Amino acid sequence: MSEAAVHVGSGKVRELYELPDDRLLLVASDRISTFDVVLPTEIPDKGRVLTGLSGFWFARTKHIVANHLLALRDDGRSTECRRLEMLPIECVVRGYITGSGWKDYHATGEVCGHRLPEGMRESERLPDPIFTPATKAQSGHDENITRDEAAELVGRDRFDEVERIALELYRFASAHAEARGIILADTKFELGVDGDGALVLADEALTPDSSRFWPADSYAPGRSQPSFDKQFVRDYCESVGWDKTYPGPELPDEVVAETRAKYVEAFGRLTGISFDDYLGDPDVVLR
Ligand SMILES: Nc1ncnc2c1ncn2[C@@H]1O[C@H](COP(=O)(O)OP(=O)(O)OP(=O)(O)O)[C@@H](O)[C@H]1O
Ligand SMILES: [Mg+2]
Repeated sequence: MSEAAVHVGSGKVRELYELPDDRLLLVASDRISTFDVVLPTEIPDKGRVLTGLSGFWFARTKHIVANHLLALRDDGRSTECRRLEMLPIECVVRGYITGSGWKDYHATGEVCGHRLPEGMRESERLPDPIFTPATKAQSGHDENITRDEAAELVGRDRFDEVERIALELYRFASAHAEARGIILADTKFELGVDGDGALVLADEALTPDSSRFWPADSYAPGRSQPSFDKQFVRDYCESVGWDKTYPGPELPDEVVAETRAKYVEAFGRLTGISFDDYLGDPDVVLR
């Protein structure tokens, strides 16, 4: 690294470094997690796909909200960004009812205080996308909270702005993805505040790790949907009878190759840019 970078944290998938002048370096590894467990086998280039996709979306959503991106490094997996004061909530938007949203709906008829129509089926499209905030758990699972609870955490005016921005980002990205055969079922944004008090989109955005992408051609409500990117891994993990607790199984070469191909395909479909071009010059996603 060309300048002093101090390692300040490790996520499941990314390494976090401090750079001079109030900047951060986010380095996306090739680690993959499924059922919340990081597997012992990596998916080559996965971190580059995620970094390139985030950059692509950052470059195209500036009309909705400013973002933290300063530069992509030549390795294709490192993002230099502005360091922000992060909001204490995860900004989740759902366009389809699945995952913890489905569980909550099934139990109560509501998700994060939104009362939904009766009789919805698993994976069904919602009448309108909904903002369903969650706490940012330091360890363990994030917990869904109501909009009022979120408003208490960030302030009412700030909350209204966050909700509007998150919904707008979701609408923009889901329309873009759908035109390319990919359903953006739900996604999580992280927003921070800069020195001037302005809201800024941070972290990664609209990647397979922060979103549920479904292949549109096999979509059918009434069941869980295959994942565009992780399905081979999930199927393999189920087939060996893994109990979904640490440690996860090693992945065989063909599952690694198939999964890498799906990540690269998602990148190509969503960006319209060839992944090889990205490897040659990461800045292609920013133009
Ligand atoms: N511009 C930014 N300024 C300050 N913090 C940021 C910025 N962008 C992202 N972050 C924070 O950096 C951290 C990135 O860590 P990462 O996502 O790799 O791991 P994690 O969130 O701790 O765990 P997980 O693996 O569950 O995502 C997050 O806490 C995120 O909120
Ligand atoms: Mg994270």
